[in-house]
Amino acid sequence: MTAQPSHRASHRAKPAFSPFTPRDVNWADPPLHPNHPLEAFRNADVLSMRGMPRHAIEALIDSAAAIKAQFKDVVAAKPLAGKILGSLFFSTSTRTRLSFEAAMIRMGGGVVGFSTKEASRLGALQPESLEDTATCISAYCDIAVMRHPDVGTPKLFAEHCGVPVINGGDGIGAGSEHPTQTMIDLFTMQERLGRIDGLKILMIGGLHLRAAHSLLHALCAFDKVKVYLLSDAPGRLPDAEQHAIDAAGLDWECVSDVADVAAEVDVIYHNAMGEHAYYIVKPQFLIDHASVARAKPELIVMHPLDRRCEIPASFDNSPHSVYFQQAANGVPLRMALMNAMIGDPLAL
Ligand code: CP
Repeated sequence: MTAQPSHRASHRAKPAFSPFTPRDVNWADPPLHPNHPLEAFRNADVLSMRGMPRHAIEALIDSAAAIKAQFKDVVAAKPLAGKILGSLFFSTSTRTRLSFEAAMIRMGGGVVGFSTKEASRLGALQPESLEDTATCISAYCDIAVMRHPDVGTPKLFAEHCGVPVINGGDGIGAGSEHPTQTMIDLFTMQERLGRIDGLKILMIGGLHLRAAHSLLHALCAFDKVKVYLLSDAPGRLPDAEQHAIDAAGLDWECVSDVADVAAEVDVIYHNAMGEHAYYIVKPQFLIDHASVARAKPELIVMHPLDRRCEIPASFDNSPHSVYFQQAANGVPLRMALMNAMIGDPLAL
């Protein structure tokens, strides 16, 4: 791809970072820390977990853990003072939007944006183009996060945007991703279990959903991970994702019931598959106290949320439940990510 035309050129050139930004752009700024793994994020778009190197993921998790441990000091230091996040949410969100916005505010920066498509000119009766929207937002913000109902729109937006863009979740089905949800998931696994290598993970429910895809792609970067998949139409893993994890050598197999593997897994990762009625018909997709009665003491039950009834509220007091810790980890993780992208992560 050629460089941006001059009338759309931004003040910030992005790096060619192929796992996140599969295009050829000039990286004008010299690296702040040339040999540090967090440098991979600097000025990059973060659109997918596919192919993201483990050293970058691990460095980000370490940075999030350090921020969480020294939270008050980091907030007092205001490392992103003067920076502005464009919070571009074209479909519903509670956790992603608010934790990104809280993360930027905690780091001393500001936020502009919208939380529905209708609030922007892209949602007008005669919509503005994505390209024009991106060009204008490049002039207002230092970094942007986009959630969109259509798979691939954050990537298209990033191609016309002069500031680093984060995919905050795009669409459902083949190709959909939610990379920062996966970063939170891996941070929470590391925090609770002390490792990602060697984990046995049961993924259950909506395997056609973006959080499942990004997590599977990321797990390909780690060693001796075993994944069990439990789902049903229409929640099955799309062919494209299955081919990708096969090509990357991930060890996975399908199971038909939680009970098949409940005693051996370290993580149960649920992703909602349907409404309440679905689980009355298919109780094998429910997780409750009975389903983990024979589990290891250290088992963690994760969920990106929102949930319906696939994990009842009565399970929230289980020592295995970590989904609200997962949601809370969104703030330090997104602080670490934005600081790596547009700040100086080693200055904290
Ligand atoms: N986990 C997640 O993406 O939640 P929201 O849809 O509320 O952002």
